[in-house]
Amino acid sequence: MALIEVKVPDIGDFEEVAVIEVLVKPGDTIKPEQSLVTVESDKASMEIPSSAGGVVKELRVKLGDKVAEGTVLLLLEAEGAGAGAPAPAAAAPAPVATAPTPAAPAPAPAPAAAPAASAGPVEVRVPDIGDFKDVAVIELLVKPGDAVKQEQSLITVESDKASMEIPSSAAGTVRELKVKLGDKVNIGDLIAVLEGSAGGASPAPAPAAAAPAPAPASTTPAPEAASGAAGHGRVSPTAALPPHQPEVRTGLPHASPSVRKFARELGVPLEEVKGSGPKGRITQEDVQAFTKAVMSGQASTRAAAAKAPSGAGGGEALGLIPWPKVDFTKFGPVERKDMGRIKKISGANLHRNWVMIPHVTNHDDADITDLEAFRVQLNKENEKSGVKVTMLAFLIKASVAALKKFPEFNSSLDGDQLVYKQYFHIGFAADTPNGLVVPVIKDADKKGVMQISQEMAEMAKKARDGKLGPADMQGASFTISSLGGIGGRYFTPIINAPEVAILGVCKSQTEPVWDGKQFQPRLMLPLSLSWDHRVIDGAAAARFNAYLGQILADFRRVLL
Ligand code: COA
Repeated sequence: MALIEVKVPDIGDFEEVAVIEVLVKPGDTIKPEQSLVTVESDKASMEIPSSAGGVVKELRVKLGDKVAEGTVLLLLEAEGAGAGAPAPAAAAPAPVATAPTPAAPAPAPAPAAAPAASAGPVEVRVPDIGDFKDVAVIELLVKPGDAVKQEQSLITVESDKASMEIPSSAAGTVRELKVKLGDKVNIGDLIAVLEGSAGGASPAPAPAAAAPAPAPASTTPAPEAASGAAGHGRVSPTAALPPHQPEVRTGLPHASPSVRKFARELGVPLEEVKGSGPKGRITQEDVQAFTKAVMSGQASTRAAAAKAPSGAGGGEALGLIPWPKVDFTKFGPVERKDMGRIKKISGANLHRNWVMIPHVTNHDDADITDLEAFRVQLNKENEKSGVKVTMLAFLIKASVAALKKFPEFNSSLDGDQLVYKQYFHIGFAADTPNGLVVPVIKDADKKGVMQISQEMAEMAKKARDGKLGPADMQGASFTISSLGGIGGRYFTPIINAPEVAILGVCKSQTEPVWDGKQFQPRLMLPLSLSWDHRVIDGAAAARFNAYLGQILADFRRVLL
């Protein structure tokens, strides 16, 4: 078996392009034409194919190396044919050469289309892009109305092996784009019509401007190499390269053609993928990781996220099957009503919180027999004052005591940090004709039960009248949702982010409670504490509920 050197073929006027991907390794068996490395210039990236098949013996380039025509990429033990026929020819990947020459007719059509740079419409056409045929338009870099400079990239096209930006042959304002994403284009195809010169057009316009890049390619024909069967055209992207341009790749995802193709096949929006390669280049692994994250629900594409709050409830973002679309009128008469503003807003918040917070709910009961007796007595005594003391006011006070004892329940997650609040602002869910709102009792630790009761009554009224301002509903560090006046046993309240816990309360009932000797009739209050499992664990939640129960059973403990 003969060892042959596989070299960089004629890649047009690319000079010193960087190796951005090495696609094979020693020991790999490769076929002729198989891509070995990806190289990249400012405007195009391309994969360099092997001129022969065989087993890779030694790599001669590594990531970041600069290569040019003739650089040895690797040593290959040529396949089959054995030692006999091998070396030189194969070694000269020359194929390239085939590209420019035959394509020679190229420049002509384009220029014809591009008149003088000044007034009137200017047609910009695909220049000579070597032996590329039917390359797909994968990016539109301008839109009608945009002012473009001469040499500015208008579109990106891509073949299996290379992607390249097609520059404008003139300056002007884009009047019309004649291609759209996915279109297949060839040399001479009309890309855009520009409106006159935007001043930037070169004063020595016509021919030069019209024949944008192609020229360079044809300057390096290397005709003699034509025999090299392999990878011709790979080179041609050079055609799109304006000879001298520092054009900025505005926000274009940085990825090789094969990675772009891979992403397109999976429907992955490359611009949302974070590249882990050199200079942020997106690798195939990055695309795979992105896909995995989306599929597992850990991430969503921007498009899916944008759809999330809509009717389907964001199921697409979670990779769920679509929301059932039912023609209800098939089953009986219906009436449609728009959802109110509060419902829409609170719905979006509840949905986010439910999806993003790993909720767990602990249920417990508190003996409020004595507390309720005290409350009733208080209200009797204060009948004239007009302030009615509610169980919720006691619950707010009791919660503050529990939050002081278990400070993580009064915290918020911020990245990798927990923010422990040293204030105790307690929100309470209020049911209004327009939907659920959560007014906040500020500094509940500094207020007595009477004051809290009074503030609550005022805020609940304001809520029902739709008069709560944003300040009334901000800053809560813990929330209580009481359904006690309505009924029920237990439920799962949804945490009000960025809080980390919420207490749900249902209707108290007199129940037989075993006191060690006999059953006693006790008024029991059902408690449902939902907590964020990222911050709190089950034992802490059980202790919080137990402590809360102790306080409610004997309110003197608040003083301890
Ligand atoms: N067990 C038994 N009875 C209870 C009770 C409980 N846990 N909590 C309240 N009650 C009684 C009250 O004593 C009162 O009875 P009374 O009129 O005989 O004195 C009655 O239920 C009504 O109480 P209410 O006026 O609702 O006062 P409150 O302080 O309990 O609640 C609000 C005030 C604003 C919280 C309440 O009106 C409200 O909107 N609750 C709904 C909250 C909600 O929708 N949560 C769900 C979110 S998902």
